[in-house]
Amino acid sequence: MMTITSVDLIEQIQEVKRQRNAVILAHSYQRPEVQDVADFVGDSLGLSRLAASTPADVIVFAGVYFMAETAAILNPNKTVLIPDPDAGCSLSDTISAKDVQLWRDENPDGQVVAYVNTSAEVKALSDVCVTSANAVEVVAQLDTSRPIFFLPDMFLGAHVERQTGIKMHIWMGECHVHAGIGTKEIEETLIAHPNAEFMIHPECSCGSSCLYLKPDAKMLSTEGMVRYAQGSQRNEFVIATEVGIVHRLNAMAPGKKFLPVKEDAICEYMKMITLEKVYDSLVEDRYVVKVDPEIAKKAKKAIDAMIKVG
Ligand code: 13P
Ligand code: SF4
Repeated sequence: MMTITSVDLIEQIQEVKRQRNAVILAHSYQRPEVQDVADFVGDSLGLSRLAASTPADVIVFAGVYFMAETAAILNPNKTVLIPDPDAGCSLSDTISAKDVQLWRDENPDGQVVAYVNTSAEVKALSDVCVTSANAVEVVAQLDTSRPIFFLPDMFLGAHVERQTGIKMHIWMGECHVHAGIGTKEIEETLIAHPNAEFMIHPECSCGSSCLYLKPDAKMLSTEGMVRYAQGSQRNEFVIATEVGIVHRLNAMAPGKKFLPVKEDAICEYMKMITLEKVYDSLVEDRYVVKVDPEIAKKAKKAIDAMIKVG
């Protein structure tokens, strides 16, 4: 049950937000109360698009750093705030700009496809960004006579290869949360719920074995899961991703049952954002996300190319 204090805090957040003409964007792995106070909740692609088109003067990004950084790159003239700048991403941390430059030096005619879960410096060395919602579509449009470097998620990369039939050089990075969702617990949950549909995020490590277990599994981005659940005739869904999505699914597809395969699949970076930090962020203008203008200019080209697809 919500305490008086949090009700007050929510009202105060709404008030400061109005005064500052601010918008709060939240990823669907955020804490339930942060999702509820946000103006928009969504996946990386949807939130990037909203960041690109919002008329607000201030964007508070309730998500992880690369997401706020993407919003800042798209809005060089707006104030973009992240309530906690330490909200990082283990996947993004697996690759540096130096790693990308090395591949570029060895493959001068190559094309670099960067998952949006990367730093601005990595994006600046990339031709196009993708999210889990449009990676297959973006890669399918590339010139296959030139080498393709897909980074940094190896499981999303393998999914894209399976879907497109295009061979790529894939960086062996992974997200600790999704890599930790094992085939055994998925199998157990599916056996216990034989009539449920199965929705899995492509960052999960069990990609091909999951498809073997359940060939009609749906590999979807977080917002793809919301749309799929809304449109499906079924009422029960087994979910393989970070558990924050369950709050979003319950809100958007009420009356349906969502069963996470791993209750402790929790991204501690996403959970670093609290209501208190959102309030402080709005009141004290913290923490402003700044990107070097030269890096931002190059990264924006790859992000703009991503936003157009899917
Ligand atoms: P989505 O783009 O599907 O929301 O995924 C973002 C993410 O960080 C998954 O771990
Ligand atoms: Fe990064 Fe994984 Fe957290 Fe997504 S769930 S933000 S990929 S650490």
